[in-house]
Amino acid sequence: MKSSLPSSQPAKSSGAPESVPLLDLRRQYNEIREEVLAAIARVCDSQSFILGPEVEALEREIAALTGAASAVGCASGTEALWLALVAAGVKPGDSVITTAFSFFASASAIVRAGATPVFVDVDPGTLNLDAALVERLLQTKRPENLRAILPVHLYGQCADMDAFDRIVREDVKEDVNKDTKEHAPKFGVSIVEDAAQAIGAEWRGRGAGSLGVTAAFSFYPTKNLSAYGDAGIVTTTSPEMAEHMRQLRNHGSPRRYYHHEFGWNGRMDGIQAAVLRVKLKHIADWNESRRQHAAMYDQLFAASGLRASLHSDPSNAPVRLLARTPQAKHVFHQYVIRAQRRDELRKFLAERKIGSEIYYPLPLHLQPVFAYLGLKAGDMPVSEQAAGEVLALPMFPELTEAEIRCVVESIAEFYS
Ligand SMILES: Cc1ncc(COP(=O)(O)O)c(C=O)c1O
Repeated sequence: MKSSLPSSQPAKSSGAPESVPLLDLRRQYNEIREEVLAAIARVCDSQSFILGPEVEALEREIAALTGAASAVGCASGTEALWLALVAAGVKPGDSVITTAFSFFASASAIVRAGATPVFVDVDPGTLNLDAALVERLLQTKRPENLRAILPVHLYGQCADMDAFDRIVREDVKEDVNKDTKEHAPKFGVSIVEDAAQAIGAEWRGRGAGSLGVTAAFSFYPTKNLSAYGDAGIVTTTSPEMAEHMRQLRNHGSPRRYYHHEFGWNGRMDGIQAAVLRVKLKHIADWNESRRQHAAMYDQLFAASGLRASLHSDPSNAPVRLLARTPQAKHVFHQYVIRAQRRDELRKFLAERKIGSEIYYPLPLHLQPVFAYLGLKAGDMPVSEQAAGEVLALPMFPELTEAEIRCVVESIAEFYS
């Protein structure tokens, strides 16, 4: 935690904060301002604004951080998801299994690749894609032309990658053709990670981004590692897929004005890469601060008498915490509670100038744009219940202990 109080953080004379923002990027900026401005000036001096040396250096650094073979910088996390899916072989007519409880892009990228999202409900503890339900679906009603499984590392905690690895490995490569009784080859199923919220996260010591064939990260300004605009990156364990994605992000063009396939303009700006490289040096410390803040929240909730519990949550507890998976090193992109009377609590906090947010108020299978899939309320009960209960509390590296105490005390006051 940082010793000096940033100017953007108002404090009462008693020391209790007057407000607690959900996220205050100005505090981070105050600490790295000179470095960031110098990095931006470096790009302006070079006049190399799109791709170029800064993007290439960032790609090498992100590959090293995640343990992936290669990384490919692009315009956004959404673009990264599309590249990750297409490089993994997803094509029109395919199906991709994903979670019903995520940001819209996890599913819209599947549609943009020409495929059909197959939504599966989430684990009630972690709210990550439920591997047992995915396994059951494969055994009972295997989606046609299944090409990939896209787990999302929600809120910064990896989905159960042991289970998804096993599912993909055990997924038989041969299928008995019902008419001829002959074995017909099945489509190979790949794991594509949506690691948009999980830079620096790990599963059994392996970095998010190296756990599937491809993985997408977002550098949207609210993310743990954030650009000064839109940006994203794809990592991959396959250098061939990296080459394909470099081509795809640049109009399917291996060399200027020669086009081998329909790609798109999905390139990353040099200025974004330069800013990200400054911040990358701090990401391990920032993620560690987030973990410390989460531990303090946990501790204060446990002591608050709200009967919040990490493991055996009685359903009538006013506040319940999400489960932590021991194999996962969490980076707490968000610190999320499940709260009774959530919307009233949120209003109460807002009146006390305490920021909070709902990620996400409507599960993906109930979004109007996915009505064509024919799913209805009740089909994904865990996601639907979570959508009515989740509340993200202030979480960013520079958050102070006084602010965390203020948040928990205010929540305790609401339920008293
Ligand atoms: C889980 C998830 N997937 C994908 C995205 C898309 O990233 P971007 O906003 O950079 O396009 C985001 C972030 O907004 C996200 O949280």
